[in-house]
Amino acid sequence: MKTENILLIGFMGTGKTSVARYLARKIKWQVLDIDTEIEKAEKRSIAQIFSDSGEPYFRRVERRMLQKALKKKKRVISTGGGIVVNPLNIRDMQSKSTVVCLTAGQREIYSRTSKNKKRPLLNTKNAFQTMQKLLKSRRPLYKKAAAFSVSTTGQTACESAKKIIKKLGQTK
Ligand code: S3P
Repeated sequence: MKTENILLIGFMGTGKTSVARYLARKIKWQVLDIDTEIEKAEKRSIAQIFSDSGEPYFRRVERRMLQKALKKKKRVISTGGGIVVNPLNIRDMQSKSTVVCLTAGQREIYSRTSKNKKRPLLNTKNAFQTMQKLLKSRRPLYKKAAAFSVSTTGQTACESAKKIIKKLGQTK
């Protein structure tokens, strides 16, 4: 494979973390999850970072972690859904990796994300409406950043990983 890294973007609940794990195992690359790296470095959960230090602080740490991750090669990198809000992140991701966007239907996203309270941005009175608004504003950014998209609706992580491998073969 020609690309230095494969990087998964997409809205919360589209399956980036689990698909990245399967994909990495299949192509024998290492996997790296930006949110996990942030939690390790900060020694607190994403929800705690948001509530104690605020979103702008989180975005700065997220950018630093992305830059660090992109220094490596042959990694499948999974990202948080908001990585695309900073245009500099999009530029860096595109220059050092093949960016793949995972998508899923709204109902599937909602059912996956409402299972726990790990996502501070959806921790609102009307989480479905919040999700719709965020999705609307993020969609063009995901489209702009990604080389191609793969739908994970009704798919297992393993099936989605296989689809990505097939598409990567077609794009090279
Ligand atoms: C966020 C998505 C989360 C996490 C943080 C912010 C976002 O990651 O980075 O809560 O802005 O969409 P997941 O996409 O893995 O849920």
